[in-house]
Amino acid sequence: MEARKFYITTPIYYINSPPTIGSAYTTIIGDVLARWSRLKNIDTFFLTGLDENASKTVKAAKEKGYTNIQKYADDIADVWIDKWKKLNISYNGFIRTTSKKHKKLAQKYFEISYRKGDIYFGKYQGLYCEGCEEFKRDIDLDNGLCSYHKKEPIKINEENYFFKLSKYQDKILKLIKSKEFILPKYRRNEIINFVESGLNDISVSRPNQEWGIDVPFDKKQKIWVWHDALLSYKSGVDKKYWKGKVLHLVGKDILKFHSVIYPAMLLSVKDRLPTTIFAHGFFTVNGQKISKSLGNSIDLDYLCNKYSVDALRYFLIREIPFGQDGDFSEEALKTRLNNELANELGNLVSRILSIIEKKLNGKIKKDILDKKLTSKLNLNSIGKYMENYELHNALAEIMKFVKECNKHINDEKLWEMQDKELNEHCYTLLESIRILSILFYSFIPETSEKINKQLNVKIGKLKDCKFGLIKNYNIKKGDILFKKVE
Ligand code: MSP
Repeated sequence: MEARKFYITTPIYYINSPPTIGSAYTTIIGDVLARWSRLKNIDTFFLTGLDENASKTVKAAKEKGYTNIQKYADDIADVWIDKWKKLNISYNGFIRTTSKKHKKLAQKYFEISYRKGDIYFGKYQGLYCEGCEEFKRDIDLDNGLCSYHKKEPIKINEENYFFKLSKYQDKILKLIKSKEFILPKYRRNEIINFVESGLNDISVSRPNQEWGIDVPFDKKQKIWVWHDALLSYKSGVDKKYWKGKVLHLVGKDILKFHSVIYPAMLLSVKDRLPTTIFAHGFFTVNGQKISKSLGNSIDLDYLCNKYSVDALRYFLIREIPFGQDGDFSEEALKTRLNNELANELGNLVSRILSIIEKKLNGKIKKDILDKKLTSKLNLNSIGKYMENYELHNALAEIMKFVKECNKHINDEKLWEMQDKELNEHCYTLLESIRILSILFYSFIPETSEKINKQLNVKIGKLKDCKFGLIKNYNIKKGDILFKKVE
C-alpha cells in the first residue's frame, strides 16, 4: 500500500557561496520526486533550506566585507531562494537554521539528550576539517590531508560536550542492515563496515565560537553545526508529515552523517526514524571534480539563459544514472537539447499542431484510438522506474514514446491525409501528447505547461494518463518549445 503522506528533503546547503550546479542537482531531483508524488495524489511536503551556523559562514561573510554575519546570511538566503524559483523548485518549506523555530528545537533536543546522560562534558584533542565541519580520525586522512577537501585539518585541543554515539552502535547496525533504510543498496556496505569497525563518541559542541546556536545550559559553548543541521528536517516540517513516509535525499559525501549520527540523535530523544536515506552520486565537470580552486563550477544563470531551465533539468536527470557518479559537460547538454528536446519533443508538438491548424481549423473531435500507437506507451514501466528511483530510465522510457509518436506521423504520412482519417490519427496523437505532458511535468514543468496551453487543456494527474479522456480539442498553436543551440 502506498503511504498517504510523503515527506522529502534535500540536504540544507552551506551558505559560503550561492547555489552551484551540484546543489542544483540534488534540489532538482528532490523536486522531480515531489512533483511525481503529487501527481499520484499523495499529500507531499518537500523541504529544502540552508545550513547557516557553520564556521564557513563567518569566513565567507568576512571575506565579503560584512561585519554583521546575520545580515550576510539574510542576503545570501535571498539569492538561494531566487535561484530555486528560477529553476522551478516547488518546495513547500524552506528552513533556515538561524530561524527561531529551528534554534528552539535544536536546543530542546540537545538538552533532552544531556538530561538522560547521552551528552556529557569532556576533553577533546583532534584534527578538525573546516570543509567537512568534522573531526577526523587518522584513517580518514590521505597523507595528512582531508580526502575530500585536500586540506590539512587544524589541530584542536578543547573542552566540549560529547554525544554517546557508541551506545547506539547495535541499534544503528540493525537499522542500516534493514532493507529500505539506505538506498541504493550498493551504498549500504560501506556504512555497515564503518559502524562495525566501532563507533566512538563524538564531540558535539565547540567553545569560544562567535557564531552558532548556544548550548542551552552552557553559554560558553555552541552546538556543533552538524548536530544542529540534521535536526532541520524536524524543525522544518509539520508533525503530520513526520509520521508518513520520510525520504532524505543526500549526496554520497554526507551519507554517514545521515545514516549513523542522525538516527542515533533521534533514538536518544525517542523520536521517530526516517524511512529512507537515499544517497546519489557525484558528478564531475568535464571529467574534473568541481572545486573553487579549479574555478570550474559552471554558472547556473549562464546555463539557464543559454539552454533554458527545462533543458538543464532534463539533462541532469537523463544524463546521470540516478545514484551513480556522472559527468557534466556543456557539449552533452547541447546534444540532449538539440536531439531529444528540440528534434523529438518540440518537433512532435509543432508538427501535429501545424497540421491540425492548417487542415482542420484547429479542431479535433473524439475518435477511434489507434492501438498501434497507444500500445507503445509503457506506463507500467515508467511507474516502476520512478518507484525504484531510476529517474533516468523513467525519462528515457517517456522519450521513447515521443519517438514512437514521431514515427507514427512519418509511417502513416499524416500530411497526405484529409478529414475523417486525419481526425482519427490526430485525436490519438493529441491524446498521446496530453499524456506525455503529464508524464513530463515532474521533469520539465514549464514545457508541460506550454504544451497544455497549446492543447488548451489543464494538466492532469497520473490517473488521467488514459487515452480517450478528452471529447473535443480546440488547439492554439504557440511558439516552438525548444530553440536549438549550435
Ligand atoms: N550543509 C551540509 C548538509 C547538511 S544536511 C543536514 C552540506 N552542505 S553542502 O552545501 O556542502 O551541500 C552538499 C550537497 O550538495 C551534497 O550532499 C550533494 O547533495 C550536493 N552536491 C554538491 N556538489 C555536488 C556534485 N558535484 N554532484 C552531486 N551533488 C553535489 O554538506
